Amino acid sequence: MNTQAAQLTVAEPFLIQQNWEAYTPEQHSVWAELVRRRMPQLAQHACAEYLEGFHIIGLREDTIPDLAEVNRRLAPRTRWNATPVSGFLPPDAFFEMLAARKFPTTTYLRGRDSLEYTPEPDIFHDVFGHVPMHAHPVFADFLEHYGRVCAALTDKDKLERMGRLFWFTVEFGVIRQNGEIKLYGSGLISSHGEATHVIEGPKTGAGPEIRDFNLDQVLDQQFLVSEMQKVLYAVESFEQIYEATKQAEEKLG
Ligand SMILES: [Fe+2]
Repeated sequence: MNTQAAQLTVAEPFLIQQNWEAYTPEQHSVWAELVRRRMPQLAQHACAEYLEGFHIIGLREDTIPDLAEVNRRLAPRTRWNATPVSGFLPPDAFFEMLAARKFPTTTYLRGRDSLEYTPEPDIFHDVFGHVPMHAHPVFADFLEHYGRVCAALTDKDKLERMGRLFWFTVEFGVIRQNGEIKLYGSGLISSHGEATHVIEGPKTGAGPEIRDFNLDQVLDQQFLVSEMQKVLYAVESFEQIYEATKQAEEKLG
């Protein structure tokens, strides 16, 4: 019996197995190149919690992660699980999984010809970009709560507003640590171009405006998926995004 399916209803049809043995040497070598491209910058500019999480969950440079191995390390820490799915999920299935501490994780890996960008979600973005943060207890609680709040919403406008909270935290979040802007959002962690745009911004003058995190502004902030981000919101701690999610629940729930 599939124990994952036992806890999920709307997401159940999207659950798959990761066939780790089927990855080719070429695919492992693409993974290795992706990791090698990102790590020097991340060692300096990722937040401490991301880098800790990377080691806690046992990510390696040389091979595509075996999700069962990742989960053996992650689940005892925070009860989160990187759960293989077939691709993009409809919102109700996505939120159901977050609320159950199961992060929908694709198993496909982009090809060598699209190292910087892939329109389809892939295991590099999902695991390298997202999953290390799930080893952090406060971020772990925040993400589950976010899923619960969204799972209970039906109003389209309210869901769009909550989607902006996700975008400016989970996907494109930055945090101030020791007086510096550090990256934690998966879209910045997994994309060399997006991250460089932020890091080099103060020098080039072309980077995004970095504002202090403000829930009302975030809920109203439009964004384009297809362009470099023009504004980002910096938090002071991960407690701040957990508290913001509770406040959003009060406002919108
Ligand atoms: Fe993502």
